[in-house]
Amino acid sequence: MTCQQVLLIVLATCASRALAGVSVGGQCSTDNDGLDANTGRFSSDCDETSYCSGAMNGTCQTRRCRRDEFPFGFQNTTPTPPLCADGTYCPDEGSGCKPLASVGQACQVDRDEQCAPSPDADTLAGEWNHGGAVCLQGTCVYANMTLGQPCTVDVVTYMEGPYKNTITRHNCQTPLFFCHTDMHACIPTKAFGSPCNADQECRSYNCGTRGVCMDPAGTPVRVKTWQVALTGISVIAAMAAIVIMLTLFHKRHRLQRSREIREYYEEQMGLRRSLAALHAAAADRYAKDKLYDQ
Ligand SMILES: *[C@@H]1O[C@H](CO)[C@@H](O)[C@H](O)[C@H]1NC(C)=O
Ligand SMILES: *[C@@H]1O[C@H](CO)[C@@H](O)[C@H](O)[C@H]1NC(C)=O
Repeated sequence: MTCQQVLLIVLATCASRALAGVSVGGQCSTDNDGLDANTGRFSSDCDETSYCSGAMNGTCQTRRCRRDEFPFGFQNTTPTPPLCADGTYCPDEGSGCKPLASVGQACQVDRDEQCAPSPDADTLAGEWNHGGAVCLQGTCVYANMTLGQPCTVDVVTYMEGPYKNTITRHNCQTPLFFCHTDMHACIPTKAFGSPCNADQECRSYNCGTRGVCMDPAGTPVRVKTWQVALTGISVIAAMAAIVIMLTLFHKRHRLQRSREIREYYEEQMGLRRSLAALHAAAADRYAKDKLYDQ
């Protein structure tokens, strides 16, 4: 067998695994279970609707639970496995609902919801943990570390085509603190407008493209009182200007009209006077002619 043939076989094997996956009943090994390094998506020997039963002599079995309302890879005709009840979770591979893991127990990458909430959930719970618990480096911990205390960071970079998305997770209490990636200690998060290198450094969890902490995407714009006042005054001023202008135009128009009417009247009077004069002259002449005739 030449090198090229070997390469072809390897490529073909990879391609078929990436594309289809073994369907229910086929052979598999859980050794090949894992997350895609680029997309973070779970992948295994089995297809999207089944999971592998074991490392040795494993077979693909129909999935027993699902994580999402609309799981990927199920056709309309295939019945979807059930969602897990409260207090349980469905692992990435879908092998069946399991009770939540407590602190120190194993969990899967980026799956905080597999960890049981902290008893101090009131103070620790936030957008970036599950009731105060986080899954860091495959183990459930509480996000309860405060200023200066040692912390653990988990950095995952997802590549989707040209887009790179780095997610940094840690066990400092959010949103007040973040874990410094070099010092491994919790330090306070930065306020709006402060320079930043990563989302986690900002209290708003949004380091804008210009490297300063910004409001999270989708935050409604806050209008300041002076802006409202200025807008109101401008609107009123514009309205007043329009009213004054219209009044002036109207006044000028009325003046012009009254002048026209007066001119017309004077013209008519002039005409009338000349008519009367003409009439008087004619009558005068008639009277004189009559006088000569006699
Ligand atoms: C795997 O299958 C082989 C042959 O069918 C059998 O000899 C072996 O004991 C099996 N191993 C396990 C761990 O079941
Ligand atoms: C955080 O929680 C762990 C687990 O319960 C506990 O051992 C640790 O003392 C807590 N740390 C702080 C600073 O509260």
